[in-house]
Amino acid sequence: MVKLEIIVAPDPRLKAACEPVTVVDDEVRRLMDDMLEAMYEAPGIGLAAPQVGVTRRVIVVDVSGEDDGRQPLRMANPRLLAASEKTAVYEEGCLSFPEQFADVRRPEHATVAYLDETGTERQLEMEGILATCVQHEIDHLDGILFVDHLTSLKRGMIVRRLAKAKCVKPAGRVRA
Ligand code: NI
Repeated sequence: MVKLEIIVAPDPRLKAACEPVTVVDDEVRRLMDDMLEAMYEAPGIGLAAPQVGVTRRVIVVDVSGEDDGRQPLRMANPRLLAASEKTAVYEEGCLSFPEQFADVRRPEHATVAYLDETGTERQLEMEGILATCVQHEIDHLDGILFVDHLTSLKRGMIVRRLAKAKCVKPAGRVRA
């Protein structure tokens, strides 16, 4: 197991468009498992490959919120087949935007097609927090972040806060 580090915004790697997976092989399965590990440790309910610096269309999700009843979903090439006109608002965060949350409106129901960890093509109808989370993760694969759904004013506030947090100089001697 490789311990994956989650990239924090602002970072150009989070804006990259990802390549489809051609075959779900051991390497892809390992990536999925390593991503789940990083996600649980964070802790979070979803993670997309570009957040760990891998530009492939892979996401993992677990909205069960339980340590002993985990229900991980491993998805390669997830794509939205259908989305309801009815929308729902959830307060979203993102492991690449630590401590930042904002209301985002998305379709309430979604049908998603994907390849599971065995390479089998699957379809899943989802609603509620799962629908929101999977749409959030699919967005990541196209370089779209949850803050891109906000007004530019709100987005600017969040991005500036993170940029500032990243630039805090560590205490101690400066080596120039
Ligand atoms: Ni995210």
